[in-house]
Amino acid sequence: MKTRFNFPTRILFGQGVLDDVAEELLLLGAKRPLVVTDQGLMNTELPERLINILRVAGLETAVFSRIEPNPTDAHIDAGAKAFSEHKADIIIGLGGGSPLDAAKAIQIRIHHHLPMEEYDDLADGDAKILAALPPMVAIPTTAGTGSEVSRSAVITVAAADRKVVLFSPRLMPAVAVCDPELTYGLPTRITAETGMDVLSHNIEAYLASGYHPMADGIAVRAIRMAAVHLPKAVENGKNQTARQEMLMASTMGAVAFQKGLGVVHSLAHPLSSVAGLSHGLANAIMLPHAVRFNGKSIPGRVALVANAMGGRDTTVDGAAKALTDLVKKIGLPTKLSEVGVEQKQIPTLVKKAMEDGCHASNARECNPDDMEALFKAAM
Ligand SMILES: [Fe+2]
Repeated sequence: MKTRFNFPTRILFGQGVLDDVAEELLLLGAKRPLVVTDQGLMNTELPERLINILRVAGLETAVFSRIEPNPTDAHIDAGAKAFSEHKADIIIGLGGGSPLDAAKAIQIRIHHHLPMEEYDDLADGDAKILAALPPMVAIPTTAGTGSEVSRSAVITVAAADRKVVLFSPRLMPAVAVCDPELTYGLPTRITAETGMDVLSHNIEAYLASGYHPMADGIAVRAIRMAAVHLPKAVENGKNQTARQEMLMASTMGAVAFQKGLGVVHSLAHPLSSVAGLSHGLANAIMLPHAVRFNGKSIPGRVALVANAMGGRDTTVDGAAKALTDLVKKIGLPTKLSEVGVEQKQIPTLVKKAMEDGCHASNARECNPDDMEALFKAAM
């Protein structure tokens, strides 16, 4: 048995660590950072606060804030241009999954000029990521994707209307600056949806096939943290402990899913691209059904998920029910029909779910009939 591990990233974690970010940049030898973020963040005080911290340390900072949800290759080209114009020497990704993924793609774009789809992981694109990448510091403002410690980024190629997954150990940020204070102001609904992405990453990583006991251990601990603290963070966004534990569980999730994800993410991706659901909500609705599906081949592992969640019923049904109860408790819908998905969309959803790469590491093999049954069960 052969395997490869790449972790962990250097992580600064805790309330107020944003204040230490300049020191990290100086340690990396940087002088001219480009901050990559989005308009939503620009409407808060955070970018100005970050620029001030960097200015005091003598760093000349520029901001590129034209990243939108589901960033496209056009955003990446514009970001790379901003990097060159500023003569920047480091990228700071500030925000949720979209700005962090965009920052990673801009890192590649500086010295790699093929069309973005040439770097797609499905086409062994990482073998073409050979030139230097400027270093990147990631500052997450949501507890969700864990992009601050992951080695992948998803970019939409607008002309082809398809998503490209960039995947390379070289995309892991040099430093992740995880300050839970930056998540205190997240709205309730976003907290709930992104929090279910956190739980999905950890459960999928734990259930994934393959040998990675280190990832398994991290995932089980983070499943517990998310099950306990997500309802508390939803109930009161200012609950410091709950926000801290959710941000840590998010970071742990992305470390754990180095092992792989599974069918939940393959079902969720088309629910976003075809039916417009947010990624976290799509995961939240599909997770209990996928756990029931996987329970047929790995009941022992599913029982341990139920146990980690604190449930008394550690059967497969008990695990699925505990997940549905959690989704209800945090105020999210549990059925696809409640969020506008229609029966007639199922064939397209099935086709795209099969094309998605995540289920390759699912514990149980999935065929189109399985995908269809899972979508129908969730209607
Ligand atoms: Fe996810």
